[in-house]
Amino acid sequence: MQPLPGFRDFLPNECARRNYIFSKWREVARRYGFVEWDGPVLEPTELYTKKSGPEIVGQLFNFTDKGGREVAMRPELTPTLARVVAAHDREFKKPLKWFSIPQCFRYEKQQRGRLREHFQFNADIIGEATLEADIEAVALCVDLLRGFGFTAHDVVVRVSDRAFWIDFLRAQNVPEEKWQETLQIIDKSEREPREKTGAKLGVLAEQVFGILDGKGSSEKLDRLLESLRARDLADFVQVDLGIVRGLAYYSGVVFEAFDRGGKLRALAGGGRYDNLIHQLSDGAVSLPAIGFAMGDVVLGELIDEIPAAKKQMEEVTAAQRDLDIYIVVAKEERRDAALAQIQTLRDAGYRVDYPLTVAKVGKQFQTAEQLGARVAILFGDEWPQVKIKELRTGEQTLVAHEEVAAKLTALFSA
Ligand code: HAM
Repeated sequence: MQPLPGFRDFLPNECARRNYIFSKWREVARRYGFVEWDGPVLEPTELYTKKSGPEIVGQLFNFTDKGGREVAMRPELTPTLARVVAAHDREFKKPLKWFSIPQCFRYEKQQRGRLREHFQFNADIIGEATLEADIEAVALCVDLLRGFGFTAHDVVVRVSDRAFWIDFLRAQNVPEEKWQETLQIIDKSEREPREKTGAKLGVLAEQVFGILDGKGSSEKLDRLLESLRARDLADFVQVDLGIVRGLAYYSGVVFEAFDRGGKLRALAGGGRYDNLIHQLSDGAVSLPAIGFAMGDVVLGELIDEIPAAKKQMEEVTAAQRDLDIYIVVAKEERRDAALAQIQTLRDAGYRVDYPLTVAKVGKQFQTAEQLGARVAILFGDEWPQVKIKELRTGEQTLVAHEEVAAKLTALFSA
C-alpha cells in the first residue's frame, strides 16, 4: 500500500533532515526572542471560510465529524493564532513574539514544491503596529535562510505593501468590493502573459504595469530597507511591488522569499494582518499583527541545490546519527560484563550499541563502522582487560575494565 498522494513517509534519513530543519528554525527563532506555541490540527471549517480567502478554502481537507460538526485540517496556522490570541488577550503582555512548527494540510494538486501536507515554521509579532515589527519579521526570515547556509546570491526576500495598492485602488475609484479580486489579479500577473492580465485589469492595466515595471515607490518600504541595511541584511532584500500575496487578510507590508535562480516556488511568505484578530473575534479584541511562514518542502529542495547548504546539513545530520561506541562481544561468556559496561556508558550519555545476538567478531567490527561508531570496545579473552579500538585510526589500547570510563573521557574530549 502506498501513502496517499501528496503525503510523505519519513524514513530515518528524511527524519534526520526534518529534525535538522526544525532545530535550525527553533535555534534562530529563539535568538530573536520568540517563544514556541501550538494549536490543534483540526479546527471548525468556519475559522477558514470566514477570512482566509477563496484560494485556501478551495484547498481545505474538510469533513463532517461524527458529532455533525463541519471541521477542517489546518491549511495554515494564522487563523488559529488569531483565535488563540483573542481568547487569551489579557494573559500576555504585548507585543507577543510567538513561533510554531505546525504540519499543515492543503488539498492541492501535487507538484514540485507543493504537497498535500507540509510543515511550516510560523513566526508572528502580535500587538505592535509600528514598522519596527515588520522589519524584525523580515530580518528573522533572512536570518533563518542564512542559518541554513544560504547567501544573498542564493535567496532574496521580495517586499511589498498592500496598503500601497489599496491607496492606488482608492485613488482610481475602484469600489471596495472589487479590491480583493483586483489584488488577486496583480498577485497572479507574474505567472501569466501580460495580455491576459491586461484584459482582466481593463482600464487599470497601463498604470498597474507601470508600477510593476518599477514606476511605483513607497516611502515605507524605503525606510524598511534602510533599517535592514543598518543590520547588514539589505543584500537579501528587494522592494518588489508585484508581491501581493494570495491570502485575503493581509493589510500592509507583505513579503515572499525565493531562490535567486527562480527555479522553485516561494520558500516563505507573510505580511501584516492588522484586522484579522478583530474580524475573527467579532470585534471583541483588536490587535495589529505581522508574521510569516516558511515551508519545509521548498526549503529542502533548495538545500539540495546549494552545495554549501547541503554540506552543512549533512555534517549536522551525520554527527547526530553516528554512534559513539560499539561494544564487540568476542566471547559470549563476557556478555554480562559487556552489558554492565553498556549500561554505565549509556547512563554517562554515550550513544552505545552492541550485537543483540551471537555474531562473528569481524561482522561486529563491520557493523561498528557502518553505524559510524568512533570507538569499538572488545570484550573477549583479554578480560578483565578490554581492548579499545579507535575506528578512524585503527589504534588499539588494552585497559582494565574499571578504567574504561576514564579512558573514554580522555578520548572523547581530545
Ligand atoms: P503561505 O504563503 O500560504 O502563507 O505559506 C507559507 C509557505 O508555506 C510557502 O511559502 C511555502 O513554502 C509553504 N507551503 C504552502 N503551501 C504548501 C504546500 N501545499 N506544500 C508545500 N509547501 C507549502 C501562510 O500560510 C500564512 N499563514 C503565513 C503567515 C503567517 N502570515 C502571517 N503569519
